[in-house]
Amino acid sequence: MEHKELTAFPKSFLWGSASAAYQIEGAYREGGKGLSVWDKFVRIPGKTYEGTNGDVAVDHYHRYQEDVDLMAEAGLKAYRFSIAWTRIFPNGKGEPNEAGLKFYDDLINDLIAHKIEPVVTIYHWDLPQALQDEYGGWESREIIPDFLNYAKTLFDRYGDRVRYWVTLNEQNIFMQHGYLMASHPPAVKDPKRMYAANHIGNLVNATVIKYFHEHGYQGQIGPSFAYSPAYPADAAPINQLAADNAEQFNSYYWMDMYVFGHYPDLIRKWQTEQGLAPEITEADDALLKDPLSHPDFMGLNYYQTNTVAANPLDGVGMAAENTSGKKGTSKESGVPGLFKMAKNDYLQKTDWDWNIDPIGLRIALRRINSRYQLPVLITENGLGAFDTLEADHEIHDDYRIHFLREHVKAIHEAISDGVDVIGYTTWSFTDLLSWLNGYRKRYGFVYVNRDEESEKDLARYPKDSFYWYKQVIASNGEDL
Ligand code: NOJ
Repeated sequence: MEHKELTAFPKSFLWGSASAAYQIEGAYREGGKGLSVWDKFVRIPGKTYEGTNGDVAVDHYHRYQEDVDLMAEAGLKAYRFSIAWTRIFPNGKGEPNEAGLKFYDDLINDLIAHKIEPVVTIYHWDLPQALQDEYGGWESREIIPDFLNYAKTLFDRYGDRVRYWVTLNEQNIFMQHGYLMASHPPAVKDPKRMYAANHIGNLVNATVIKYFHEHGYQGQIGPSFAYSPAYPADAAPINQLAADNAEQFNSYYWMDMYVFGHYPDLIRKWQTEQGLAPEITEADDALLKDPLSHPDFMGLNYYQTNTVAANPLDGVGMAAENTSGKKGTSKESGVPGLFKMAKNDYLQKTDWDWNIDPIGLRIALRRINSRYQLPVLITENGLGAFDTLEADHEIHDDYRIHFLREHVKAIHEAISDGVDVIGYTTWSFTDLLSWLNGYRKRYGFVYVNRDEESEKDLARYPKDSFYWYKQVIASNGEDL
């Protein structure tokens, strides 16, 4: 297997990079934009690293042409970005804001003029604060028509030029961080509310995809899922079972719903025992099982794997206590009765303690392929690291090149295994704001000068990885 002839990357492969509105745009009160839940959340003391926020971010709103020129210089074939709902509907609904619509028109036109395929994320976490205030945002079914109206507005305005749409970015992350760990807005710790809001998220996703399919828009649509495959800590069958539990609990719970329209029985049963099961009406069931509401591709955000071990139920009420967040988060500590997190001594870590595991990407791709039989668009993958801007404005990020090269090899191998991978948009093109970690954690091919010691002039400097990726794209993945 290791030395087999590798199948070439398809000619149409979408080599690209990705971003999200709140993390790059800045201009948070310009062009008629309304406030999002993140605009408010970052102002609560202690919520983000040293109080960093996206008020200015990397000022992409004013510098998008410079950024697109750099993308063209790197030879990008695709660029994934998100639209800020609050630029289109400052209060989440009502009359659309022409200045906001025009900003993305200009961006899309500029990309197309440079032969860069726009991949548009409809929702990357920046919910209009007005909808949070009015009806509790994701906790109310009132969000379904409002979100659909927002999505329709985008399809009608940009559908003639956009062929790839991402519905929700990392629903598993924003729901768990928002309603279980309280680390994202609305900062709630309540598993019952999390599962209920998450179910509404599934209804939104299905409603939008169904609408898209029924109305003859060109192109493809799907969600982006943060998938961290689970490994067993060792060969003990009990730990293998734990890894299976973790896959179902952390991943299939979302992906099965997207593709099959149902939750895994194991988790449904567990939720019922815990009193945590979301209500599913007959109409919900019909919508979720309707093939028209199922995605055309699975968007995969891959950063790392999880390693897990058995976690016996050994105390009355433990599970409830644990999942309510009092003893850490389900992600950190696992779920009594199902699994717990374990160490993996085979893997090195990033500066932020994330496992580095390129083979895990091949495994993720294979598992999605065999379970769901869908093409995969890798919508994120990258390395968050400290970078150093040298006096000559160069950035020697050989660690990022190494990281990405190993992951590109893994994709190549997965394609040879038979997985239909349609593209790879790395995280990220320019450096940008990390939601909770500020600006020191850098992911980009392009350094953005925001260093405290210097002038914070937001100047852009391509890193060594920029030139490396350019050569990868030019050779269609041959020259690594
Ligand atoms: C996933 C999210 O979609 C993105 O916004 C975030 O910055 C990266 N992961 C890195 O944590």
